[in-house]
This record gives sequence, C-alpha cells and structure tokens, in this order.
Amino acid sequence: MKYFIANWKANKNLAEAIKWLDTFLTFPISSDYSKVVICPPHPLLYPVKEKIKNAKNIYLGAQDLSSFGEGSYTGEVSAKTLSGMVDYVIIGHSERRKNFNENDELLLKKTHLAKQFRIEPIFCVRDENDKIPQEVQFIAYEPIFAIGSGDNQPVQKVLEVKQKLQLPKQSFFLYGGSANKNNASSYLASPEINGFLVGTASLDPLEFYRTLAQE
Ligand code: PGA
Repeated sequence: MKYFIANWKANKNLAEAIKWLDTFLTFPISSDYSKVVICPPHPLLYPVKEKIKNAKNIYLGAQDLSSFGEGSYTGEVSAKTLSGMVDYVIIGHSERRKNFNENDELLLKKTHLAKQFRIEPIFCVRDENDKIPQEVQFIAYEPIFAIGSGDNQPVQKVLEVKQKLQLPKQSFFLYGGSANKNNASSYLASPEINGFLVGTASLDPLEFYRTLAQE
C-alpha cells in the first residue's frame, strides 16, 4: 500500500475544488495499491467530503489544526471541530514552522489533540533535527530545498536521511518535495518509502493521478 497525500495548501476556491473532484473521481484507483488523502483548505473540507463519500480509497485530511482545545479562540479550528470530518491532519509542515513560528512544543500539543480526537497526524519533518512525537504513525520527510522548487531529492539521499530520523516503530515514511509523475516511480520502487506528500503536482487532477498511477 502506498499513500498519496494531496496538499492543496492555500489554493482553490469551491468551484475549483468541485471541478478537480469531478475530473479526479473519473479515474480508477487501484484498491490494493493506493490510498489517497485530499487535504483542502478548511472551508472546502465539507464539500470535498460530500463529493468523496462513495469513493473507495479516498480520504480527507486537514492541513492544520489549532493547538488550543475547544473554546474562545476566534479564528481557530479545533481538533474537536475536525473530528468526524477528517481522518488525517498534516502537522508541522515547514511552511507553518517558518511562517507561523511553530516549534516542537506546539507541534507536540497539536499531535496530542489530534490523537485525542482520533485524527491521524501526518507529521512533517525537514531533517533529522526536527523532533518526531513517538505516537505518530505517518512521517513526511520534506527537505526545504525540494519543496515547490522542481528539485526533488533523489531516492538514495532520502533513504540516507531516513536512517538518521528517530522514527517510531511501525511508522509509514512518506517523501515530499517536488514529487510528480516524472520522478514518482523511483521512490515507489523502494519498499522503504510508503508514499508521498504532494503539493504542486496535486493541484491538477490529471497530474496528481499520474503521480499515483505508475503501475
Ligand atoms: P511540492 O510541495 O510538491 O510542491 O514540493 C510539497 C509540500 O510542501 O507538501
């Protein structure tokens, strides 16, 4: 089983999201092989959920969650609000670490909240210096230079870094950073890499499908 996480980031409005799904849902997804997780911006979660409700092997993820619990935190989206809505949540993306000063301590809080509400974290690290909470199951290794640059890190190097990470036992290891249809097969050939976190190449449904439909 390989996981393909589509991280739309702060892209798409409602009409664009529906159009993406209308196309993507016409493609066959191999049930033995691929699991897709779509991570749209928060306001699009519900309409995407409605569209994929009868689709096999397609799940919903949030791109973030609040480090606060339920309560008076205007503008925040709590784990409780997301529970029952999403199966997964991206935590610790380098864009949040950089633009919103998210640190290890805060990310640990988010991880605990997600787990408490039965949302599976997809925990992102930039390198071996980022702390990995040991309760997470999915780790996405995303070297900064490779994100959005078109300059993916070759599989050999990715596996070298994987050796240095303090991965929890029985975790799934994902690669992210300019993964696309042209370079996906080299990673997918490795049993050590369980899938991708895909940004740019997930914005177009056919590009994304070609990234996952390599066989
Ligand atoms: P990218 O983004 O595929 O555009 O490099 C990946 C990510 O930031 O999750």
